[in-house]
Amino acid sequence: MEIIILPTPDEVGRVAASLIASVVRAKPDAVLGLATGSSPLGIYRSLAERVRAGELDLTGVSGFALDEYVGIPLEHPESYASVIARDVTGPLGLDPARVHVPDGRAADLEAATQRYDDDIAAAGGVDIQILGIGANGHIGFNEPTSSFASRTRIKTLAPETRRANARFFDDPDDVPTHCLTQGLGTILDARRVVLVAQGPDKARAVAAAVEGPLSALCPGSALQLHRHATIVVDEAAAAELTLADYYRYTYAHKPAWQRFE
Ligand code: F6R
Repeated sequence: MEIIILPTPDEVGRVAASLIASVVRAKPDAVLGLATGSSPLGIYRSLAERVRAGELDLTGVSGFALDEYVGIPLEHPESYASVIARDVTGPLGLDPARVHVPDGRAADLEAATQRYDDDIAAAGGVDIQILGIGANGHIGFNEPTSSFASRTRIKTLAPETRRANARFFDDPDDVPTHCLTQGLGTILDARRVVLVAQGPDKARAVAAAVEGPLSALCPGSALQLHRHATIVVDEAAAAELTLADYYRYTYAHKPAWQRFE
């Protein structure tokens, strides 16, 4: 696991975007795993700037969203289908036909989740999965006690996750109670993973994911099993890391041939 600690949230977005850009330059038809929420917005902004400046071409990539609310109308501004279209597909110039979001409105949700995993496999698997982390340690919507082997499936959102996401809805009661989410096993199948976190509210979850025991109580700790995970955090989100100085030292001495920017 590589842990990169940066001074500001903007730097977090820029450096994580550089990593993603390096993956796409090496493989123009790369498959991106797309997170929603606030954490990856800086990444999407930075990628969009590079596209606008003509430095990066993302027209060949495909995307698979991590999750979707169950039962939310497709056209609802906070459905993840809408969020991905607004924040990702449009600004990054992706081909909408190649951007996928789990179908939270399917009559047969179990079949929809199976189809989603099949579609990821048919696309050749995810080359780089973008992740945020919940204050309770969830990645995707794999809430505490999710199986490390889980695949895309329906989950009940933890009450604290519904409270955290209430900021996107007019009424807290409007936050759906269920979601479809890629499983921890699905996420671990990605060839690379980049998790971003900013702000003090994420410090405990970041420390538990990176340095805590492998534990179902912190689903993010599953990333310790991944061979190529990069964690990019600002100083506030790094505040509870025991080995923060070591991570800073390691990044400062990273060999040129390993750098992606
Ligand atoms: C979003 C997702 C979640 C969020 C997490 C953090 O697709 O799967 O795991 O990454 O809830 O949310 P923010 O970034 O809004 O703090």
